[in-house]
Amino acid sequence: MKILGVSGSPIKNSNTDRAVQKALEATGLEFEFVKLTDYAVAPCLACLGCLETNKCVIKDDGVLLAEKAKNADALIIGGFTPYSSLDARTKAFLERLYPLRHKHGFMQGKPGGAIITCAVPENNDMLPPAYDFGVNAIKFFMMEEGMDFVGGLRVEGNVPCIKCGHGDECKMSGVKMLHGPEATVGSVGVHSFEEQNKALDEAVMLGEAIAKRLHEKVK
Ligand SMILES: Cc1cc2nc3c(=O)[nH]c(=O)nc-3n(C[C@H](O)[C@H](O)[C@H](O)COP(=O)(O)O)c2cc1C
Repeated sequence: MKILGVSGSPIKNSNTDRAVQKALEATGLEFEFVKLTDYAVAPCLACLGCLETNKCVIKDDGVLLAEKAKNADALIIGGFTPYSSLDARTKAFLERLYPLRHKHGFMQGKPGGAIITCAVPENNDMLPPAYDFGVNAIKFFMMEEGMDFVGGLRVEGNVPCIKCGHGDECKMSGVKMLHGPEATVGSVGVHSFEEQNKALDEAVMLGEAIAKRLHEKVK
């Protein structure tokens, strides 16, 4: 059995990457980790050119990635939430799995999980529900493809203004926008996945739950 893990985060060795890898390792099964910035994947053209062949007509890496998804027994997908929705790379990847749908439903019954890194602090009703928008995009993709959505988890990420060097004086800084008028770059700090016990536990639990579903399927 093989699990495919995908990260849509463009940052090298990012929180999203490491959280996806943690969940993959927790499955105890063979896995492959894919970072979408290593591939060129355009969004679906809605041309239905894949209807008879189950293969996309766009000549880019989306064809190879769809093949990897088809051959995997489960998917763990990690994205982040620029402007409060699922990032474009992860969304384009999901759209490019559309060819696997027609007549065969190649993704049907496969367990899947979602990991969303977002900078919007948890439990603040005054800010956009970035996590919900991100996780639901993946969850509803999986449901629409007949997959078995096992669960999602939130990783606290970093608003880019934390690292840009102008986070305390820029009038457009996201530091105060997200963390309140008294917040500074220093008081908010850099959030790392490994320091978030809840996210760490949930990543392990997600990997274990996916492995359990797969073992139950072969019994
Ligand atoms: C252009 C841009 C816009 C962003 N907008 C949001 C946002 O609206 N909400 C949010 O939660 N995070 C936002 N972020 C922050 C990302 O979610 C954050 O960078 C995330 O932690 C990246 O995860 P990573 O460390 O795995 O790469 C934005 C990031 C970028 C680059």
